[in-house]
Amino acid sequence: MTLRVVSLPGDGVGPEVVETALSVLSDVCSAAGIGLSVEERPIGGRAIDTAGEPLPADTLAACRGADAVLLGAVGGPRWDHLRGEQRCEAGLLGLRRGLGVFANLRPVRVHPALAGRSSLRSEVVRGTDMIVVRELTGGAYFGEPRERSGSGPEEMARDSTVYTAREVERVARVAFRLAASRRRRLTSVDKANVLITSQLWRDVVTRVAAEFPEVSVEHQLVDSFAMRLVQRPADVDVVVTENLFGDILSDEAGVLAGSLGMLPSASLGDGGPGVYEPIHGSAPDIAGRGVANPYGAILSVAMLLRHALGRDDLAAAVEAAVDECISAGVLTGDLGGSAGTAAVGEAVRRATGRRLAAAGAAR
Ligand code: NAD
Ligand code: IPM
Ligand code: MN
Repeated sequence: MTLRVVSLPGDGVGPEVVETALSVLSDVCSAAGIGLSVEERPIGGRAIDTAGEPLPADTLAACRGADAVLLGAVGGPRWDHLRGEQRCEAGLLGLRRGLGVFANLRPVRVHPALAGRSSLRSEVVRGTDMIVVRELTGGAYFGEPRERSGSGPEEMARDSTVYTAREVERVARVAFRLAASRRRRLTSVDKANVLITSQLWRDVVTRVAAEFPEVSVEHQLVDSFAMRLVQRPADVDVVVTENLFGDILSDEAGVLAGSLGMLPSASLGDGGPGVYEPIHGSAPDIAGRGVANPYGAILSVAMLLRHALGRDDLAAAVEAAVDECISAGVLTGDLGGSAGTAAVGEAVRRATGRRLAAAGAAR
């Protein structure tokens, strides 16, 4: 078989971390006897510069025809003057919506060797192993009406937070299924004391809970959950929340892992290709120097192997190799080390290769 991947390196550090992650994917596929075809397409600033828009139709069409999409990051100061649909970020939103990837899985694990790197005390973050399931194609990011009009002191703008029961139900099911396969605890995060979209959210999650009697579900308001995340993160198993809350809470969770550069993600829909990307942005402050942390992108490749190929064994080999390299002190600057992006990639490739060779020999 051949795995067809569309690569969207994007802007800033995106191309640096995607190149490194692809080199790991390529090694794993060779070792496992899986063919790999990679087609690169522009998105974000690069697409604006070359095609005049952040998500050219060709790019979306190529993604639709792929088995999986590997994305770096979009955006940067060069394009920050653009507004609305012309922005780099609108390209990313168009991709998510265009592929219907409504469930964004953002695992947050704290490697013991990095517990001391967090700005929180190590005893607080140690043992953290959670997954944030962020709704990705609804809420304030896409709701209508969405407008800006008028002028002077009366100039106004509005975004609309909109959810249907169907949208809440399908992402809740993803979260419950995940929780059922883990520690069987789900925390649904909302603002039901104020927002009626959150009241719908809570009602629907409560209804779906009846299908999963083995999972215990709790509801928590987003403000107090934001506090719990930095007070008792190890208590949290699976979190499900709406698009905007999930965006904010997952960056907060980056602090637990020692750096935003550590966190991977998978965005999944109903059977079509998923989007695999680190959660960090284009990091313009460090772009072009070969120093970006590629672990989040490499761990996104592990998620691709798990969800697009169904190869838990290969995903676990990459994750174990990453753990091994971190234990061995192969760390980029954001983690207090001095390894470059490519050197981290090399170390992970060697460690993954050893693991796959040992597994092959044992078979
Ligand atoms: P950012 O995530 O790019 O950077 C925040 C901080 O984290 C910076 O100090 C950066 O150096 C650091 N950082 C991020 N990734 C890192 C990595 N791999 N290794 C080491 N350090 C890393 O967020 P920002 O600065 O607020 O946004 C910059 C641009 O990226 C904006 O245009 C924003 O819209 C965009 N963005 C894109 C995505 C995406 O494409 N998925 C996600 C977030 C932000
Ligand atoms: C993310 C990013 C995006 C988001 C931006 C770049 C549109 O912050 O993937 O977390 O807000 O979803
Ligand atoms: Mn974000």
